[in-house]
Amino acid sequence: MLECKNISKAYKSGNLETRVLKNASFKINDGEFVAIMGPSGSGKSTLMHILGALDTPTEGQYWIDGQDVSRLTDDELAVIRTKKIGFVFQSFNLLPRTSVLRNVMLPLAYAGVPTEKREEMAKSALRGAAFPEGFWNHYSNQLSGGMMQRVAIARALVNNPALILADEPTGNLDSKTGEAVLQTFQELNEKHGRTIVLITHEREVAEHARRIIQIRDGQIISDEIKK
Ligand SMILES: Nc1ncnc2c1ncn2[C@@H]1O[C@H](COP(=O)(O)OP(=O)(O)OP(=O)(O)O)[C@@H](O)[C@H]1O
Ligand SMILES: [Mg+2]
Repeated sequence: MLECKNISKAYKSGNLETRVLKNASFKINDGEFVAIMGPSGSGKSTLMHILGALDTPTEGQYWIDGQDVSRLTDDELAVIRTKKIGFVFQSFNLLPRTSVLRNVMLPLAYAGVPTEKREEMAKSALRGAAFPEGFWNHYSNQLSGGMMQRVAIARALVNNPALILADEPTGNLDSKTGEAVLQTFQELNEKHGRTIVLITHEREVAEHARRIIQIRDGQIISDEIKK
């Protein structure tokens, strides 16, 4: 599903060039649950932005479902992001003073889904994210952090993407709430076959995945599949 070959990313400021990703190569197959783990500043988010076609590498190649991402136009990239990838971030990025249901329905409007289908799809995504039905009409800013993250997960699921990219999704949650959210990711992987890439700096969080790729100073230093 995803393949990176020798991808590097450098940022330039003036004459100074900093390479934050160095020759990263790996494949992620359909149905895998992979954690990308590394300390702060190691290049995890940079890598996730590339994997999610939000950014492009300075060197190397990257394929999503066999398509060379560097050859796609901005419009084609937008289609891939909308149809194939659901994003979840540390800060939930919900619209405040807007109901849970409306927050989840929003990406469907961008995807051009007919109005009458949106509500049913949003409800199904909320169920998938284990979000309690009694709160569907609450404003997103009236919820606990754990519930907000479930809304964000539902929003990521609503277009039925095969791939979920989650950048420190439990970073703003206490450990018990975080654990419950991680269990939801496990279920989405095991029962619903979603491919999940989970980014974290914590070993405990990464242990929820079946494969752990470790990154240090922009380089992949290990890649292990758990037995
Ligand atoms: N737009 C940018 N311009 C210049 N440098 C950047 C830019 N984005 C990231 N960096 C640098 O690249 C390095 C890697 O950043 P990145 O955000 O990928 O790390 P991270 O592993 O996600 O860290 P954290 O765990 O703190 O989120 C850092 O040194 C950062 O300062
Ligand atoms: Mg980061």
